Amino acid sequence: MTNAPQPEYKGPKRVFSGMQPTNGLHLGNYLGALQKFVRLQDQYECIYCVVDLHAITTGPDPENLASRCREVAAAYVAAGVDPKRSTIFVQSAVREHTELAWIFNCVARMGWVERMTQFKDKAGKDAQRSSVGLFDYPVLQAADILLYKATHVPVGEDQKQHLELSRDIAQKFNNDHDAPNFFPLPEPLIQGPGARIMSLRDGTKKMSKSDPSDMTRINLTDDADAIMSKIKKATTDPLPVPESKEGLADRAEVENLVGIFAAVTERSVDDVLGEFGGKGFGVFKPALAETLAAKLSPIAAEMRRLTADTATLDAILKEGADKARAVATPIMAEVRDVVGLWRA
Ligand code: TYM
Repeated sequence: MTNAPQPEYKGPKRVFSGMQPTNGLHLGNYLGALQKFVRLQDQYECIYCVVDLHAITTGPDPENLASRCREVAAAYVAAGVDPKRSTIFVQSAVREHTELAWIFNCVARMGWVERMTQFKDKAGKDAQRSSVGLFDYPVLQAADILLYKATHVPVGEDQKQHLELSRDIAQKFNNDHDAPNFFPLPEPLIQGPGARIMSLRDGTKKMSKSDPSDMTRINLTDDADAIMSKIKKATTDPLPVPESKEGLADRAEVENLVGIFAAVTERSVDDVLGEFGGKGFGVFKPALAETLAAKLSPIAAEMRRLTADTATLDAILKEGADKARAVATPIMAEVRDVVGLWRA
């Protein structure tokens, strides 16, 4: 990979992030990404995408893809992303994403992409039968970000390696084309207790929509009863909640529940341990479940309202795509020039 020092990027600060339109967003998506999307609007120009081109890497679903995109867009708005202040759109509506991805395919090295652990996880044992798109997925992700010359990318920890690849692609593109400041090196915004939310049943596994058991995750649309039952049945141990962080060592499931409490209330882990340290899970778990339900219920209700009103949602997405295109088109024109592509 290229390590030449990069001069300071002087372009505007801009946030970009995306989520796949996969059935059912969960608490990991909310705490790892969505909650940050909302907060960042106060500080930055923000662009939030629903990445349908990424979703087709694991198989076609033409019947439901549009409604899955609407559901994610509804979650963005219901959680507090304001379509007037921020740009919300569906990836494939801005065709330049695929165009830049091709150019980046010619910048990224095979060895870089082969190292991506998420591909290995998703492809499983039979990588030969995966789509080329699944392998190339992180290169398209780099194009998503750099098409807007985004400087900051809020994501959960599982995306860290993909962000490193985006930085490597940006830097190699700049170096190869003798355009030192052309692309910024996008900075991941990962910190905080919500960055890695684990399964409620196994503290070594990430909370994920692909886990066959629904009891391992809190879905954004779960009602208060479902949340209470899942949290009460979440794996813990017979010891009480520890009084300090050292007491979380080797207690992955407990650490996860305390981290969830801290993330959802936007408090520090120390603060949560200060309140619950020494108390049993018979006290902590109901408090956590109630806090979660209070946070998620209004979001779920608003998601239901918005997904039923497709006209409003589609108008938001149309306006968002127009705004996104207005940023992307001139940047893509510059890229074409820098690369020396034919001026049609
Ligand atoms: P996706 O759709 O898998 O997840 C969306 C976001 O949720 C975060 N996340 C989690 N955070 C904490 N704990 C968890 N258990 C957890 N599970 C998921 C993810 O880190 C992510 O931030 N490749 C991306 C989508 C993407 C993208 C982009 C992101 C495409 N282009 C450009 C940023 C910038 C993905 O598959 O996310």
